[in-house]
Amino acid sequence: MSKKIKVGVVGIGGIGRGTHLEAWMTNPDVEVVAVCDIIRERAEKAAQKHNIPYVFEDYKDLIALEDLDLVDICTPNKYHSIIAVDALNAGKNVMCEKPDAMNYEEVLKMKEAYERSGKLLMVMRNNRFTAESAFVKKFVEDGKMGEIYYAKCGWVRRRGIPGKGGWFTTKELSGGGPLIDLGVHMMDLTIWLMGNPRPVSVVGSTYSKFGQSQTLADSVNAAFGDAKEDGIYNVEDLATGYIKFDNGATMTVEFSWAENIERENRYYELMGTKAGARWHSSYFDSKLSIFSEEQGITTDLQPNFKKSGKREQHAGNLDHVVDCLLGRAKPIFVPQQGVDMIRIITAIYESAETGKEIIL
Ligand SMILES: NC(=O)c1ccc[n+]([C@@H]2O[C@H](COP(=O)([O-])OP(=O)(O)OC[C@H]3O[C@@H](n4cnc5c(N)ncnc54)[C@H](O)[C@@H]3O)[C@@H](O)[C@H]2O)c1
Repeated sequence: MSKKIKVGVVGIGGIGRGTHLEAWMTNPDVEVVAVCDIIRERAEKAAQKHNIPYVFEDYKDLIALEDLDLVDICTPNKYHSIIAVDALNAGKNVMCEKPDAMNYEEVLKMKEAYERSGKLLMVMRNNRFTAESAFVKKFVEDGKMGEIYYAKCGWVRRRGIPGKGGWFTTKELSGGGPLIDLGVHMMDLTIWLMGNPRPVSVVGSTYSKFGQSQTLADSVNAAFGDAKEDGIYNVEDLATGYIKFDNGATMTVEFSWAENIERENRYYELMGTKAGARWHSSYFDSKLSIFSEEQGITTDLQPNFKKSGKREQHAGNLDHVVDCLLGRAKPIFVPQQGVDMIRIITAIYESAETGKEIIL
C-alpha cells in the first residue's frame, strides 16, 4: 500500500505531544501534515521537531485542509464533540481522545455526524490494546468464562489530581472529575470484555473532599494538564456506581483522584459461571489471574504473554485507526459504545445529584 494517511493533530499538550505525535511519526503509513494548538508555540515547536508543514491556532483552518485524511483531537474534553462534529461534517475521518464528550447531548451529536458522514469515528480506547486484554477477550469469546453476570472495575488514586485548578478540575471544561477522566478507561474495558451489554439503569454517588485542601500533596501521580494556583475545582474526587445491563448482568465501579488508600490501583474483575478473571495494575505490579475449577479442584492461573509484535496501548489504538482506513481491519470501537459509555457517566452524575436510580 503506497498511500500514506495524512493526519492533522489538534491539541499539542501532554498527550498530543508526548504520545500521539510520537506514535504517528513512527507509523510508516502515516504522514503528519498539520498541527494546531491555541498556544501557537506548542504547535510550532512540534512542527519544527517533526518537520510538519502546517501550523494553525484555529482548528477550523486545519479541518479546511483539502489533502487531509484524519483529524486527531487531543484537546481538553470540552472541544471533543465540537471539533469532531465539524471535522466529520467537513468529510474528514476522526480520531478523538477519551472521554468521547462531556455529556449525553454532545456524544449523540458526534454519533449523528458520524452516521451522516460515512467516515470513521474512533475514540481512544487504549486499554483494549494490550496482550492481557486480547487474551481475556478471546477467552470470553471462546466461551471459557461461561456467562459473565457480574463485574467490578475501578481506578483509584491516593493522591493524583491532574492539573489541579486547570481544565481537568473545571466542570465546564472537563464534564467532571475522575469518573469521566478515569472511568471511561476501566468501564469501557470491562463492558467490552463482557461483550458490550447495553446499560439499563444506574445508581451513583460522588464526593468532593480534597479539591479545596491547601495542604494536599496533590497531583503527585498525575502528569497531565497544567495546574493553576487559585484555579477552579468544582468536580468530584470520588465517584461510585452500580450499573444494570440488558442481559441481567451488573457492575460496580469506583473512580478517584484522591482518597486515603494505600496506593493507586486500576482493576477489573469478571465473574463468569465457568471462570473468573481479575486484572490489576499498580506502580508495583500488574497481574492477570483466571480463577476456575478442574475435576473438583480450584485452579488459579497466571497466563504468560508472548509479545505479539504489535504496539500496545495508545500507539496500538492509533495503528488500528490506520489499519481501518487502509482497509486492513474493522473498527474495534463503534460510536454507539461511546454513547452508552457517556450515558452511564451522565446518569451516575444525575443519580448523585437527585439521590435516585436513573432508568436509561
Ligand atoms: N488516553 C489516555 O490515556 C489519556 C491520557 C491523558 C489525557 N487524555 C485526554 O487527552 C486530552 C488532552 O489531555 P492533556 O493531558 O494532553 O491536556 P493538556 O492540557 O496537557 O493539553 C491540551 C492542549 O490542547 C490545547 N487546546 C485547548 N483548547 C484548544 C482548542 N480549542 N484548539 C486547539 N488546541 C486547544 C491546549 O493549549 C493544550 O496544549 C483530554 O481529553 C484527556 O482526557 C487521555
